Amino acid sequence: MPYIRPMNYKKIAAEDVLHFKNIIGNEFVFTDEASLEKYSRDETDGCAFPPEVVLKPKSTEEISAIMKYCDEQLIPVSPRAAGTGLSANSLCLYGGVMLSVERMNNILHLDERSLQVTVEPGMITEALQNTLQTKGLFYPVDPSSRGSCFIGGNVACNSGGPRAVKYGVVKDFVLNLEVVLPNGEIMWTGANTLKNSTGYNLTQLFVGSEGTLGIITKIVLKLLPYPKFNNVMLAPFKSMDHACAAVSAVFRAGIIPSSIEFMEREAMEYVMNFLGDVTIPLAEDTHATLLIEVDGSDLEVIQKDCEKIYEVLTQFEVGEILFADSEAQKIDLWRMRRNIAYAVKKTNVTVEEDTVVPRADLPELLKHIKAVGEKYGFRSVCYGHAGDGNVHVRILKDALTDEYWKTEVPKGIREIFEKVVALKGTISGEHGIGWFQIPYMDIKFSPMQIELMRGVKKVFDPKNIMNPGKIFH
Ligand code: LAC
Ligand code: ZN
Repeated sequence: MPYIRPMNYKKIAAEDVLHFKNIIGNEFVFTDEASLEKYSRDETDGCAFPPEVVLKPKSTEEISAIMKYCDEQLIPVSPRAAGTGLSANSLCLYGGVMLSVERMNNILHLDERSLQVTVEPGMITEALQNTLQTKGLFYPVDPSSRGSCFIGGNVACNSGGPRAVKYGVVKDFVLNLEVVLPNGEIMWTGANTLKNSTGYNLTQLFVGSEGTLGIITKIVLKLLPYPKFNNVMLAPFKSMDHACAAVSAVFRAGIIPSSIEFMEREAMEYVMNFLGDVTIPLAEDTHATLLIEVDGSDLEVIQKDCEKIYEVLTQFEVGEILFADSEAQKIDLWRMRRNIAYAVKKTNVTVEEDTVVPRADLPELLKHIKAVGEKYGFRSVCYGHAGDGNVHVRILKDALTDEYWKTEVPKGIREIFEKVVALKGTISGEHGIGWFQIPYMDIKFSPMQIELMRGVKKVFDPKNIMNPGKIFH
């Protein structure tokens, strides 16, 4: 049971709005319809929860003053980055304050001696990456939404993306965080070091905590030298099974590509229709493709790796491989991959699941997903980070009735997740649980395990005002 019922929360009154205006300035406090509507949504299908007020502070100190007040007054606060979440991670389920970090969007310190950067949470991930690249530095984590998502949201959800397979996800790059606790206290979670065996790892507790423990206000990231070269290829297969089985074989052959992404044929068709300006010829018997990138600082080594990959793929009856021969073609191939979710969503009512299993079990997972679809009568478009065993399953409503969509399709999703967990995988690889995936948490965690998480939450947020109703009830 939750330790504070939502109805305990204070409804925001004129005096509260005035108080917020005194802290951050009139022009950064929003109660107009359009703002409340805009901030009631993220990228999750079919969810809207309007806040009572939207605040756009500029500094840690302002956030601290806001939190101190909300803690005293029992006003719930949901921190928000760019709103690209796919699990209703930041929505204000119980009204209250939507605290947007969009004005906190600067690089505060670039330490080129130690290869670290300190950045504010509202910076667009790709903007950070581009700035670093001009200095020859690399922050590899690249969610598909990197052109619009914020680094703070990436940390809060422990995001991944195509390059995670070689370089790791957000957690592997976060060294230290400045956070504001629900009672307004400000603290650093760790140290700006690559190693740290000093007590519990508070930094990693905040990574992936989806705004439920506090508000991330500064982020220290580890950086790498920028890899000078990459090769990109698109490999077509006659069956999903072959494509999926080829993935783990590549690693067993001793190669770690910087990305190895799976797209079933339909995903490519949807996205080519959506983009309009990318045409990749698909043979009639192509049912799935792998988009593979190999990067590094030595072109010869990259080329040798590509040859080895080719040898592996031939064991799985690969069709004619397209090797990108220009920057423009590489960009097109990646635009195609990155836009799948948007493309499918534009044409249909959909819901997306974020399954992840050990890499070698991908073929079994895909078979199961399609079998469940047959059983329940729904189509799904599958794509994602095959090298990580992380498959996004976008389920289409098509002509299913609203009633069936609401009651029967979730049963099918449960069957998919039960298989995922039986394969020793989990129900989200990178999108998080937010509010949307809570109904499936019991598949992965026992009541005792949820109770442990609730206990952690209670230590940080005894009044349950910090993004309440997320991850677990
Ligand atoms: C992607 C997002 C949906 O991989 O995670 O495109
Ligand atoms: Zn993804």
